[in-house]
Amino acid sequence: MPSLFKRIFARLPMARSTRAYDFALAHVDLSQAERVLEIGAGQGYGAAHLSRALPHAQIFSVDITTECLKPERLETGPHPPIFIQATAPALPLSSKSMDAVILVMTFHCLPQPQQVFNEAARVLKPGGVLILADVDGHHWMARPFEWVEHAFISPLTHAYTPEELAQLAERAGLRDFRVMRRPGKERGFMMWVFCVSA
Ligand SMILES: C[S@@+](CC[C@H](N)C(=O)[O-])C[C@H]1O[C@@H](n2cnc3c(N)ncnc32)[C@H](O)[C@@H]1O
Repeated sequence: MPSLFKRIFARLPMARSTRAYDFALAHVDLSQAERVLEIGAGQGYGAAHLSRALPHAQIFSVDITTECLKPERLETGPHPPIFIQATAPALPLSSKSMDAVILVMTFHCLPQPQQVFNEAARVLKPGGVLILADVDGHHWMARPFEWVEHAFISPLTHAYTPEELAQLAERAGLRDFRVMRRPGKERGFMMWVFCVSA
């Protein structure tokens, strides 16, 4: 990411929105989760929110850069998130160690998408859930979104369709693939994908 974008992104109030995380949590039972991984920490607000919403769990949050992170501004739960600088296709985490892996508005800009799914599947415990919230590649705004991202943020950006994500999940050995959208926003820009580790 160019550093001008990082400086702007670090100040955007929308980047602190936790609605996408709440929608995900409302559709998966993580009440018994011990360890949850977020990929794409950004400013860290999502990880901090997860640590408050899941006070029994340890949240790990990976990002390729810690430049946007503002730990001093974060209001965390009893177990503050552990932030790790790493790239998503090569997670420095043990196999079968996570109850859930969550990516919010991150998958679209990651390199090696199949390898990211493979890594998520590797670190998930059996029965663990992968949750991905991102732009629906079928939405009419997906192409303009990609143009803006390519111009200012990342040449890698691709708004994936549910069909593309289903194929990545299947090849990674994940099952029970499902797509959800907010009620009343069935044709909306955002979609949530859930799938389960075998
Ligand atoms: C749009 S931000 C989303 C942040 C946060 N999840 C949120 O919703 O506010 C995407 C994040 O993905 C990170 N990222 C980009 N490439 C990455 C990679 N290869 N591995 C890990 N994180 C990466 C970026 O640094 C950025 O912080």
